[in-house]
Amino acid sequence: MKKYSDQEIKAFGLMPERIPKHVAIVMDGNGRWATERGMPRGMGHRAGVNALRDIIRFSSDVGVESLTIYAFSTENRKRPKDEIGILCGLLIEYFNREIDELHANAVRIRSIGDLSWFPTAVQETVRAAEVKTAANPGLKLNIALNYGGRAELVRAMRLAMRESDEPDEDAISRNLYTADSGDVDLLIRTGGDERVSNFLLWQIAYAELYFTDVKWPDFTRDELIRALQAFAGRERRFGGLKSNGAK
Ligand code: IPE
Ligand code: IPE
Ligand code: MG
Repeated sequence: MKKYSDQEIKAFGLMPERIPKHVAIVMDGNGRWATERGMPRGMGHRAGVNALRDIIRFSSDVGVESLTIYAFSTENRKRPKDEIGILCGLLIEYFNREIDELHANAVRIRSIGDLSWFPTAVQETVRAAEVKTAANPGLKLNIALNYGGRAELVRAMRLAMRESDEPDEDAISRNLYTADSGDVDLLIRTGGDERVSNFLLWQIAYAELYFTDVKWPDFTRDELIRALQAFAGRERRFGGLKSNGAK
């Protein structure tokens, strides 16, 4: 739920009328963060989970409406079993620890992706968080778990074809997991790589892209402010001409 006044938002160096409605984040670099500290990769994932709290909180406080975070891709299933096990454990721990505060902040949690692939304990934890927060009016937090953009598009296409033999763009959009969050305005990727890695392929058609070398566990509120400032400085034309009256 938006907490800050316009004046407070300006005090962060942000423009109240240029806060993106939908922010998506590829939270990358956990493993390298740990390795460069001589720690096992799991410690990087743990530090990454801890970094989330401030980012969700600040996004909500400045009035971002939807935050979609990439936690586990369909391709991440290729990772070693023990790393996947650590991630599952962290996921359960995360929800158990954070759910009350998220709920108190009116955050509405949804998972996107094929949850059925995960162990039952993970599915149950995530579903419980979704049910508990379903009616909340605040930040829409979409957590991508076993998510792939291509798989999402195939699913949306199949669902749309139940409505019509010739689905149009709106029919596809309506059947995406993120239908009620709309297109992504700002896509952030941490960790230094500049690629999309099968995230929200449809929804990022006109997103502003922001890449940073900062690894996810080090992505603090100040780093998010930098990304929001960069977004505010971009001129979005959506294929048209400058929006300031030039013809
Ligand atoms: C992102 O961090 C988290 C997941 C993919 C689960 P990585 O684990 O990909 O970290 P790096 O890219 O190896 O540093
Ligand atoms: C993208 O990171 C997926 C998540 C952050 C969950 P990866 O580390 O899996 O991406 P690639 O393999 O470098 O493209
Ligand atoms: Mg990675």
